[in-house]
Amino acid sequence: MTDRITVRAPAKINLHLGVGGPREDGFHPLETVYTSIGLYDDVVARRSDSWSLTLDAASYVDAVGVPLDDSNVVAAAARALAGLHGHEVVAAVEIVKGIPVAGGLAGGSADAAAALVALDRLLDLQTSDDDLVRIAADLGSDVPFALYGGHALGTGRGEVVTPLPVSDGSLWWVVVPSTAGGLSTPAVYRHYDLLAPDASPVPAPATAVIEALGAGDVAALATALHNDLQSPAIDLRPDLGELIALGEASGALRGLVSGSGPTVVFLCAGADEARALAGVLQEDGRTALVANGPVAGAHLVNGL
Ligand code: C5P
Repeated sequence: MTDRITVRAPAKINLHLGVGGPREDGFHPLETVYTSIGLYDDVVARRSDSWSLTLDAASYVDAVGVPLDDSNVVAAAARALAGLHGHEVVAAVEIVKGIPVAGGLAGGSADAAAALVALDRLLDLQTSDDDLVRIAADLGSDVPFALYGGHALGTGRGEVVTPLPVSDGSLWWVVVPSTAGGLSTPAVYRHYDLLAPDASPVPAPATAVIEALGAGDVAALATALHNDLQSPAIDLRPDLGELIALGEASGALRGLVSGSGPTVVFLCAGADEARALAGVLQEDGRTALVANGPVAGAHLVNGL
């Protein structure tokens, strides 16, 4: 039996985010295509007689606002496992953040997914894959995808995940996190409802993105990228529109608000183009991170 386990989980980008009018429970029906990128959070779980949660972060990550009390989704993950197995789930857990705490990259969801796997393995709970995915969905709409990684179709409120075949080759991204005047996910969905009060309950289909992925055609994918939350996000934060225009004028194939924002991502033709664009944006005084994907979902990096 091991005393310490590290599980790594990736950030996500929505290549397509079709949003339908709200359901009776207030959530919005989605048709989304997730892709995972090589920015990661690690969850390190150690055996302990009592629960503790601490945090460390990469230099480019501003983690000041992350709560370490019971409201952290990692604590919720431990409670969910305890509820399922009918006994306490305690450990000393450290979150090591490499995913900007910026909104739109599902860093919290990555933590939740990594914590589920880390606690399950550390304490030898033998949770079935079905139960892990079900608990993940209860913790948040993006958490199941963080377990899968790769490319996947998301339906329901995003939590019903169907893996898509991963094409050869990588997608190269420049990720520009933004914390100033952060956009909360509920606020952006509310603004979507305000701007599109008659939205169909059926979200826009992801066909064009899925075809471009299947063909391995980056230029076609750039054209097909689609996010129904982009207009409301830019309406709330007009500077995001200016950032997208700057990136597209500086070599990106396409710029896009990531999820509900405010993080903006740029799809580039390749590694060299991504590095060059990141350089331009850094000279403009911004944090700009190069990441490629797709990558694996939550996985053990040591400890067994
Ligand atoms: O599931 P998650 O915790 O990510 O959702 C955060 C909030 O985002 C929800 O409380 C809801 O206001 C909004 N949301 C939504 N429709 C979705 C996903 C999230 O309205 N499909």
